[in-house]
This record gives sequence, structure tokens and C-alpha cells, in this order.
Amino acid sequence: MSRWAKISVVGAGAIGGSLAQRLAEADIADELDIIDIVEGLPQGKALDIEESAPVLGFSTHVRGSTQLEDLAGSNLVVLTAGFARKPGMSRSDLLGKNAGIIRAHAEAIKRFAPKAIVLVVTNPVDVMAYLVKQVTGFPRERILAESGTLDSSRFRLFVAKELGVAPRDVVGFVMGTHGDTMVPIISHCSVNGVPLTHLLPQEKIQAIVQRTKKGGGEIVDLLKSGSAYYAPSAAQLEMILSLARNERRLITASVSLEGEYGHSGIFLSVPVILSNDGLAKIVETALSSDEQKLLADSARAVKEDINLLATLPQ
Ligand code: LAC
Repeated sequence: MSRWAKISVVGAGAIGGSLAQRLAEADIADELDIIDIVEGLPQGKALDIEESAPVLGFSTHVRGSTQLEDLAGSNLVVLTAGFARKPGMSRSDLLGKNAGIIRAHAEAIKRFAPKAIVLVVTNPVDVMAYLVKQVTGFPRERILAESGTLDSSRFRLFVAKELGVAPRDVVGFVMGTHGDTMVPIISHCSVNGVPLTHLLPQEKIQAIVQRTKKGGGEIVDLLKSGSAYYAPSAAQLEMILSLARNERRLITASVSLEGEYGHSGIFLSVPVILSNDGLAKIVETALSSDEQKLLADSARAVKEDINLLATLPQ
């Protein structure tokens, strides 16, 4: 399979910078552009990353730019631009601040990179992805949002720590929205096939579920000045590698549902297969009746935010 020509990361903040570093080191594209409106910031981060190429051995050219027309030719655009949470804020509190930024960038993607796959990272991510779909009119296969992979990684780590097993041996995923109503799926969580419910009592499992739901907030409260970026950028890389290398990983991503799991017209994290063209398949699996109910609550929360979006000035 041929190598991607270009990946663009929009937003040179903490997540954009961390992701750009991971992408350069993964060496999966000829060119990596970091785009941000703050003159000097994307250029500085790009040059800093590229100066590690002789030591680390990657051949991706890293460029910084303040011009959205530099999106042209991108196979993938990662949208990280916007505000992050401060302590005490929910992701939904960012809606008003970030909607205008995402709308403008979605218009630029439509104009300059009409064939690109878009990976939305800006919060509230499931609503921002909906907005990108509305503005670009791209097919759902080419609009993905990151959250399930991140929330699943946190969930798996907390399970691993409780059990004292290797984090990579914990298999499991989180569905729903990237917010307080996300749904860690206990019925499908195992340590390499040994069901979690055989390994931990209910109250310990429930404590892990609660910690997972507040996982992003736990970091915000510790950092005080911003939100997480190492685990988010690692989760984004997992998705991007599956796309760029056509790995067809079965992982979770937020995608636009058209009846799957009983929901339509909204983005929610569900198990998917990601290939070179984007979303290759949504994988539907049986959930417990509790999990179905919780997923419906999650869908309701996203719909409320979408209704709020409609009331904002454009
Ligand atoms: C988090 C932010 C990035 O969950 O949404 O850490």
C-alpha cells in the first residue's frame, strides 16, 4: 500500500503538538503540516519536531503554517483547534466557544481538502463532528471523532491497575459520548478472554466505571491550566495508524449512526473497523439491557447539545 502524501493537524496546542510528534515519529506520510492562527507557534513546533528526524530516523517533512489553504492535498485532517477545559467545566461548556472555530475550519476543509478524511478531536467532540458533517456534507465514512479509543484506554488502564496485570492484556471498550454519560462496556471486558466479572466484585467494577467517566476531568483538576494530551494523542495515533496503514483494526470511534444500536443522526462511539478509506464498518454486538439503557442516556445528552448548537448565532 502506498504511503500517504500528507496529514494536516489543525491546532498547535498541547494535543496538536503531541500528536504531531507521534505522527512524525510514526513516519506514515511524506508531509505533516501543523496549522494554527498564532504566527510562529506552528512553525516553531514543526521545526522543533523535524529537528529530531536525524536522531529518530523518520523522513516525514514537518511544516508549520498559518494558512488554511495549506490543507490542500491532505489525505487526513485532524481538527484539534479550539479551547480546552478548565477545572469545573464540562466538555459541553465548550460548545459555544468552539462551534464557531470548527465551523470555519470545516468550511476550509470542504474548500481546500474535499477528499480528506477528517478526524475531529475538539470538544464537545461528538457534537463538533456532527457540525463538521453538516458543513462539509462529507459521507460518514470520512468523518470520525476520537473519544472511544481514549476512554477505552483509560478504562483498560484502571482495570489493569486494580488487577495488577499488564495494561495491554485488558480487552475492553467504552461506548457513547465523550462525557459524563459514556458507557464502559462491562459485558465485553476481559483480561485476554477471562471475563472482568469473574475477576472483580461489582463494587470494584463500579468504581472503575466512575473513574473512567471522570477520567478527563481528573487530569484537568490536576493540571489546572488545561486538559490531557499524552493519552489523547496516543489514542488518536491508534486510529490514524489503522487508517494510514489500512490495518482494519477493530477499535472504538465516534461515527455518525444511521440506525446502528438503535440511534440515528448523531455521533456516538461504537466499535468500528477503520481502513484506508475511513470507516469501513460499524460492528454491532449484543449489549446488556442496562448498557442499552445507558447508551440511550448518552444519545440523549448528545441530542441536547445538538439542540443547543442550533440556537447559537452562526
Ligand atoms: C480528555 C479531553 C481531551 O478526555 O476530552 O482528556
